[in-house]
Formats: sequence, structure tokens, C-alpha cells
Amino acid sequence: MSLPSPRLPAVIAPSILSANFARLGDDIARVVAAGADWIHFDVMDNHYVPNLTFGPMICEALKPYAAQGGRTAMMDVHLMVEPVDALVPAFAKAGAGLISFHPEASRHVDRTLALIHDNGCQAGLVFNPATPLHWLDHVLDKLDLVMLMSVNPGFGGQSFIPATLPKLAAVRQRLDAYAERTGRAIRLEVDGGVKPDNIAAIAAAGADTFVAGSAVFGSPDWVATIAALRAGADAAAA
Ligand code: DX5
Ligand code: ZN
Repeated sequence: MSLPSPRLPAVIAPSILSANFARLGDDIARVVAAGADWIHFDVMDNHYVPNLTFGPMICEALKPYAAQGGRTAMMDVHLMVEPVDALVPAFAKAGAGLISFHPEASRHVDRTLALIHDNGCQAGLVFNPATPLHWLDHVLDKLDLVMLMSVNPGFGGQSFIPATLPKLAAVRQRLDAYAERTGRAIRLEVDGGVKPDNIAAIAAAGADTFVAGSAVFGSPDWVATIAALRAGADAAAA
């Protein structure tokens, strides 16, 4: 019998969708100083999702604010756009560290994953609540991260959909089996409705990377909230 694969250290990625849009740079600087590991950057096009946010020029302008106290939080770019490919080089140039997209929004998923890597970024695939996991079947070798949406994409501040928990557990099994076979760990990120009071259950189901928008930016004490999120994630993974 083989031992279970060791879990990667938890990553907390505040989504600036819930930050103050009139002072995004300051909010990014403050949230990184408060302990954020990554900055989650939600790109919406009013086509793939019914909302409109920001593009590569804003990412580039904000990137310097993610460097605080000798450390730079990675830009975790979540593309909710269709089509996908034209924005990949633009976001890579704008400072993205990881670019994720929804497979049904790309005509050629394997090609888009290769394009992300060719542009020097890590690549992630995002699954809506009703998107089946078979999109993972032939692309694990090209993935650095799998993201499960635990709300329908388009808006912050929605409630966590409980059916995400068994779906996370199913992906966790596949990623552990893959890590055992190849020695390569793929992160499992969860996005939507993550709070200090449900993160332990989400981590126990298998997530190691946590987007939290309204939970962080809507709280009065970002340091305490990020610490509470991390404690919940670490307790479940221990
Ligand atoms: C939804 C976005 C999420 C969202 C998370 O389309 O992808 O990143 O902002 O926000 P909360 O944590 O408030 O659900
Ligand atoms: Zn997101």
C-alpha cells in the first residue's frame, strides 16, 4: 500500500473583485501585507459571463502593488472570457503568473494550454459547477492547477454550492494518483463562497488553494481573516 501524497502548503488568493475599484492598487498592497499569497484577478467579458471587469492593462498597472515586504504575490488570472487565446499573451506580458480558463470557452483546449506555457505562465483549467470532469482526461500533463467553481461565475458574494465538496474529492483522487505516478503535484483551487467557517470542510475535501473575495475584502480585519482562512485550511490538511 502506498502512502497518500503530501498536500502542498495552502495558498490563500483574495479576489480583488470585492476590493474597492476606486483604489485597487492600495487594496492590493494592503491585502498582500495582510498575508495574501496570490492575487486572484477575475477577468469578465460580458459574453462568457454576464459581467464586465478588467483587462491586461489594469493587471499591468496593478502588478507593482503586489510586491510588499520583499515578496511579490503572484497574479492568478482567472479568464471568464470567450474566446480565450488572444488574451493569453496579453496577460502574460502584463505580469500574470498563472492563467486559468474555462475549457468550453476555448475551441482547442490543448492548444490554449500550450499557448499559456509558451508565454511563460502556469496553466489552469476551470470547471463550473455543472461542467463535467472529463475535460481533465487527456490534459493532466499540461496542467499546473485545476480550479473548481463553487458558485456560478460572474459575481462575488454568492453562497458556496455544497455539491462542490464531492467534486473536489473526486479531483483530489485523480491528482493524487497522478502525483504518485509522475512525482508532479497539480494544485486544486476552489473559487466562490469560501469563508473562515467553511474552509476546513473544503480543505478536507481536497482543495489546497483558496480564492476568497467578499470574505476578505468585506471583513474589517484582513490580517485576522486571512489568518483564520489559513488556520482552517491547515487544520484540515494536517
Ligand atoms: C466569480 C469569481 C470569484 C469571486 C469570488 O465569478 O470567479 O473569484 O469573485 O468571490 P467570493 O469569495 O465573494 O465568492
Ligand atoms: Zn475567480
